[in-house]
Parts: sequence; C-alpha cells; structure tokens
Amino acid sequence: MPVRIHVAPDRARCHTPAVYDDLPAELFDFHHSLLVDEVRTTGFLRALLQQIRPGDVVVDLGTGTGILSMFAVIAGASRVYAIEHGPMAEVAREIARRNGVENRVTIITDWSTEATLPELADVLVTETIGNIGFEEGILTWVLDATKRLLKPDGTIVPERISLVAAAVESRHDYAKIARLRRPVHELDFSALTNLATHSILWTDLSPVSVVTEPATVTSVDLAAIEHQDVAGSITVNARRDALVHGIGCWFVAEIAPGISMSNQPPTATPSWSHGFLPLLEPQQVEAGDPLTIEIQSGAGCSRWGWSLGLGEAAALTWTTSMTPLTPPPRGPSVAVW
Ligand SMILES: C[S@@+](CC[C@H](N)C(=O)[O-])C[C@H]1O[C@@H](n2cnc3c(N)ncnc32)[C@H](O)[C@@H]1O
Repeated sequence: MPVRIHVAPDRARCHTPAVYDDLPAELFDFHHSLLVDEVRTTGFLRALLQQIRPGDVVVDLGTGTGILSMFAVIAGASRVYAIEHGPMAEVAREIARRNGVENRVTIITDWSTEATLPELADVLVTETIGNIGFEEGILTWVLDATKRLLKPDGTIVPERISLVAAAVESRHDYAKIARLRRPVHELDFSALTNLATHSILWTDLSPVSVVTEPATVTSVDLAAIEHQDVAGSITVNARRDALVHGIGCWFVAEIAPGISMSNQPPTATPSWSHGFLPLLEPQQVEAGDPLTIEIQSGAGCSRWGWSLGLGEAAALTWTTSMTPLTPPPRGPSVAVW
C-alpha cells in the first residue's frame, strides 16, 4: 500500500505527486519531529545567519526536507548544494519549489561521499548529529566533505561535538535486559541480552536516574577530525548510594561561536533521545565512590563498546563491560565477555 504524505493538504485533496508513493510512513514522523524541534531549528537558523556571508556557496549535507538549505538562502547564500541520499530528496525538491528557492538550491540525490560539486563551498552545514552526537556518522561525512566539497578555509556548522556521560540507576531502562534473564515459557533466552547490548538502547532519561556528575568523554573539533571513531574515559564520583544499571549519554554541540545545543537531561527535545548503555550486571555503589566510565566506537560510530569500573582508571577494583571492541580496563573482572 503506497504511503502518501500530504505536505500541502489543499493540493493533496485533488492531486498527490507520484514522488510520495513509495515513501515509508516513518519518514513523516521523523521529519515532523525535526521541524517542530524549535531549539534545533532556531539554533541552526541563528548559526547560519551568523556564519554565512552574502554570496557564499553552501553545501547542506543530509538536507532532509531542505530546511537548512532554505535557512542558508535566507542568510544570503548565492547557491546551496543540498545532498540527500534518501527518498526525501524528491520531497525536498518539491518543498524548495513551493518556497520559490529552486533556482538557488540544487538537490543532489546521493550519499555525500559519492557526490561531487561543480565548485567548492564556503560553508558546510550538516545536522547529522545523533542522540549521543556521533552515531549518525557525522565524523565520516564531515571528514570526507572537508577534503572534497569545502574550501580549505571553509566554515563548518556545527563546529564541535562532545559526548557526555554519567552513571545511571534506572530499573525502567534495564527492564528489557532483566526480563530476558528470566525464563520465557521455562526456556532460557538470556543469550539474547548479549545481542541487545551490543547496541545502544534509546530512551528519555530522567535526571533523577543520574547517579554521578556528568562529564565529557570525548570532544571533537569538526575542522580537525582525525578519526571516524571516538574513544574516551572519565572518572566521576557517585553522588549517592545507588544500584547502577548503565551509563547514560547525550551530546553537546557547539553550532557556531556562542551558539550551542544539547539534549542533556532533563532537556527533552522532540528529535533527540538519550543513550542508555546497559551493564552486564547492575552494580551497587556508595556515595563518593569514584567510577570510571570508558566508551569507544567502531566502524565509523556504528558500533559501540563501554565499561564501568570502581576506582580511578589506573587502579580499578572491578569492571563490568559490555564491550566487544576493547579489552576491559585493568583490574579484576566482575563480568566481561
Ligand atoms: C537528522 S536528518 C536532518 C535533515 C535536515 N537537514 C534537517 O535539519 O531537518 C539527517 C538527514 O541526512 C540524511 N543523510 C545522512 N547522512 C547522509 C549522507 N552521508 N549523505 C547524504 N544524506 C545523508 C538522512 O537521510 C536524513 O535525511
């Protein structure tokens, strides 16, 4: 059954362009959540007004509906190359036409890594910022685009992305893991929890669940990317006695000088959740305990590994790890696979 997205109800009543016929319904929800996230849209609009000079050429990497391309036009760009690999590219073309900017916005239907431009851009803008900053592949895309699509002294929006983490106590977020540790129809499916915990679980963390002070695990200047992956370690103190179920994480993005955005709890944005990295076994900690959190990505931030240990990084009393990517930190292992 073809899905129809009514971008303009008045017109859709009598005519729905064929371009919408094969679009998955999730795309509507996804892009709706992006468009109504005013912290996000306002932040990017302010950043582009600040960073684009009249006449600049702009490349919008992952244009989606084309909103950032149209912001770039409002900011004075003479031309915008709007790259989108997915079926939204055709919708973006129609949206640009309805907004009268089709002569200044060129939609390129391709992956950015495959796209070529007839000229280098003065400004690169991309909102491929994941829930924990990096998992939508922003480092891979920007590393490639700065080499091939942007002038050597070009401006990148956003400027810097940081991954922030804290230990969390959350039975709610751990419930899926805990459930499969118990038999289902008297059968043992606990091996499935290993599978589930190879990837990050997405949730909306309550600030009440945060046990330690949050700290920045890693921070990347997008004009100086060295790797497609990130790794980092923090040692933070427990604020109270708690049963730690996992590591909560989120991002801070510096979009342009003086303009930043974050989904740090309790901030709830329509378009970004938080990451929950479950521990193999929940761990009891006491107020004041130093906890060392290590997080590392692989395969261009599409795989993640993590561990939590009691003590300073160099002298851990125990560690518990869900990471298939790295050997566990030093110290006797409680539960590592
Ligand atoms: C989070 S959405 C943002 C859309 C739009 N820029 C906005 O701000 O509303 C990211 C978009 O980038 C596209 N995308 C992600 N990586 C891409 C890449 N490397 N090349 C082209 N499109 C990409 C996705 O298909 C998606 O439409």
